[in-house]
Amino acid sequence: MGNPGLPFLPSQADRRLPELIGSRIRARGPVTFAQFMEWALYEPGLGYYEREHLPLGYDYRTSPHLAADFAQLLAEQIFQFWHILGSPPHFAVIEMGAGSGRLAEDWLAYVGSTWPDFWQALEYGILERSAFLRRLQQERLAGYGEKVRWLEWDEIPDGSVTGCFFSNELVDAFPVHRVQVQAGALREIYVDWAEGEEGGFREVLGAPSTPALETYFARLGIPIATYPSGYQTEVNLKALEWLQLLARKLRRGYVLTFDYGYTAQRYYSPQRFQGTLLAYRQHGTYADPYVWVGSQDLTAHVDFTTLQQVGESLGLKCLGFTQQSYFLVNLGLAKRLADLSQVGDEGGDLGQVLRRRHALHALLDPLGLGSFGVLLQAKGLSDSEYAQPLRGFVDPELHRGIAW
Ligand SMILES: C[S@@+](CC[C@H](N)C(=O)[O-])C[C@H]1O[C@@H](n2cnc3c(N)ncnc32)[C@H](O)[C@@H]1O
Repeated sequence: MGNPGLPFLPSQADRRLPELIGSRIRARGPVTFAQFMEWALYEPGLGYYEREHLPLGYDYRTSPHLAADFAQLLAEQIFQFWHILGSPPHFAVIEMGAGSGRLAEDWLAYVGSTWPDFWQALEYGILERSAFLRRLQQERLAGYGEKVRWLEWDEIPDGSVTGCFFSNELVDAFPVHRVQVQAGALREIYVDWAEGEEGGFREVLGAPSTPALETYFARLGIPIATYPSGYQTEVNLKALEWLQLLARKLRRGYVLTFDYGYTAQRYYSPQRFQGTLLAYRQHGTYADPYVWVGSQDLTAHVDFTTLQQVGESLGLKCLGFTQQSYFLVNLGLAKRLADLSQVGDEGGDLGQVLRRRHALHALLDPLGLGSFGVLLQAKGLSDSEYAQPLRGFVDPELHRGIAW
């Protein structure tokens, strides 16, 4: 995505959202960090994902914005899902949190021009909570007419979906609770408002707002209260509600999740003393979530162990867990890179070749997008369907080196 230029940048002087949140806190008292994050990201008209001028791709670049190859290789995997399920005449592919709509655009173009029979069966749905982004997606995908539908969870009958739900960087955008250990007890971080010249947001500790926070660590067998005082981290309770919805709506098919994150053991290791919460702005990362409220993204890493464990308890069987680089290489990215070298040798547009090669390497970067987790869960399949080797997860040799 090109640089949209400085006139789009919101100014720090835009105090509307912090003042609105501040007035709510003054009226009702301190709120959980999850509530603060909910407002900072999703307040209608003012939250980071709801601002009309949001230049997607300005603050950070997601995989779909690097190269169409990401969408195309994802399509290769989903095409195989359709095949494994016996090529049903109706197959839903539901993208959750579609951002600018770029992935959907590249995905649909590729499927439409590659597999006419799959295209015929396909029903593409988008679940998007930002009204602004939904409009952006509708403009971008207008040419697809009825093929693409925007959905609400409530409109999807329970047990009705045969197909695949997928998301890229959705779960990291769910508001998280933040907790801190103090003298052998789990406490929660709340956001308060301090008056006066030095006024503004400030953090205070209180009792956990819900027993679900302690249950979360108990389920993982992590003795968090024994960690040193001051240890802090995040808990994504919203992800648990989301898993419940997925398990309820899915009749037969797959859930594919791309995001940055760790296994619980690494995420909640006593060494990760400050958690993983970060603010993103103009390709920089910042630890302070209270500075550019509404003009910076806030994210926390994903605890993939909990997605797996809770998913299993809801009937979502884990079929694979790998890293994005392995997933994409298994599906043909290495071959695409090799073909690209040939184009360079044959004297094509060298600048274009180099830019594309750079983008493909970025998708594989072990210190960046390449280390993203890719989790595959499934429900309602027969034993032989569950046992099918899956293209993106197929090569056990490749997975041996992954340091989860
Ligand atoms: C970090 S962006 C990722 C966008 C896109 N998938 C990409 O890779 O570029 C997160 C997206 O998830 C959407 N989102 C967040 N919470 C959501 C929810 N509960 N349901 C649907 N969409 C949600 C945001 O509005 C935004 O479109």
